Amino acid sequence: MSSITINHSSGQYNLDEKFVEAFKNSMEDMQVLMAEYRCALMEIETKFKVLNEQFSLHHDRNPIETLKTRLKSPQSILEKLRKKQLEYTAENVEKELFDVAGVRVICPFIDDIYMLCECLLNQDDIRLVRMKDYIKSPKQNGYRSLHLIVEVPIFLQNEKKPMKVEVQLRTIAMDFWASVEHQLRYKKNLPEEVLNDLAFELRECANISSSLDYRMEVIKNRLDL
Ligand code: GTP
Ligand code: MG
Repeated sequence: MSSITINHSSGQYNLDEKFVEAFKNSMEDMQVLMAEYRCALMEIETKFKVLNEQFSLHHDRNPIETLKTRLKSPQSILEKLRKKQLEYTAENVEKELFDVAGVRVICPFIDDIYMLCECLLNQDDIRLVRMKDYIKSPKQNGYRSLHLIVEVPIFLQNEKKPMKVEVQLRTIAMDFWASVEHQLRYKKNLPEEVLNDLAFELRECANISSSLDYRMEVIKNRLDL
């Protein structure tokens, strides 16, 4: 039986043909799956673009400030599966991970978030899998956003396949806060006292940012935007 040899810092390994074959197969399955997730992202992105276009015909503004899509990296997929003690197979990714395909929708106002959410969920090809409303119930650290896991069908040559997509909807202010708070996660080497102080500051900022969002909402309504 043929084998390949891997030289690694921890030693030399001989991988037999069967192992190499299984790995190659999972690579191929994974590539197909990732292409399908890219298609699902395109579907959701288009749905939001259509809603944005339609809204701006009737109002003098856009409910979507920015739309971002991302695919989870193979590295993050591997880490998440490992945490769940699962093998790196396309089947496990599809069944167990809900955030391989992600869409982030950033809106000027809180109303825009709920309007877009409702319009998306009313579409007859969208199935809601899970919703977490961190706007009505913010996280302990002050994080706010509306999270949806939806299933959208993609139409392949011979089949229609439902794909899961994570949708995060937030205001510009919520996004600003989340991006700063995200930086804090990479600063674990700071003294605990400093970390606690920063976490406190961030909670304060979350409150200020939240009240700003609600006051801007009132102005928007008075201006009938
Ligand atoms: P994972 O975090 O992806 O394992 O999923 P979960 O099931 O806990 O989902 P949840 O809906 O709570 O969060 C999903 C995503 O929302 C995260 O991957 C982040 O992108 C974002 N998010 C959630 N909580 C926070 C937070 O406290 N701060 C920031 N900056 N982002 C957050
Ligand atoms: Mg995630």
